[in-house]
Amino acid sequence: MTESFLVTGTTKEEKYRSLYAAIAALTQDESDIIANMANVTAAVKEVFGFLWVGFYHVVEDELVLGPFQGPVACTRIKKGRGVCGLSWEKAESIIVPDVDKFAGHIACSSKSKSEIVVPIFCDNNITGVLDIDSEDLNAFDEIDEKYLSQIVKLLYIS
Ligand code: SME
Repeated sequence: MTESFLVTGTTKEEKYRSLYAAIAALTQDESDIIANMANVTAAVKEVFGFLWVGFYHVVEDELVLGPFQGPVACTRIKKGRGVCGLSWEKAESIIVPDVDKFAGHIACSSKSKSEIVVPIFCDNNITGVLDIDSEDLNAFDEIDEKYLSQIVKLLYIS
């Protein structure tokens, strides 16, 4: 199975296109959301080497930590709090070029310098968010948002 996980490309967009196809193949026969989330975090981290790649699930009025790759992280985030809680509240992706300049940022690792959070929709409800942290400032842009939003749609396809 691991032999089939092949991602190619030179530019970020090429890598994302290839990564999308690889994740589509990985998730197409699997209906378990945790299994799919676990493989998505591993695949994204392997290709881009981000500091932290992980999911938070909506559980009642909080986000609760799900599958992730990277340093240990805070387990619960209230709606509207931090980048993740705000993405959930606003129902939109948030790109933070410099976490030190984001009021209310929740720092799980002092190594994190920039961040992107993408909400996950299922039947028009937000069921969680994908959160990615980078050790570099300004690591994320609209290309990351475009492809990560497409990738999270693969979680529920099966
Ligand atoms: N920085 C996030 C918290 C989660 S960790 O980055 C893994 C936030 O502000 O919501």
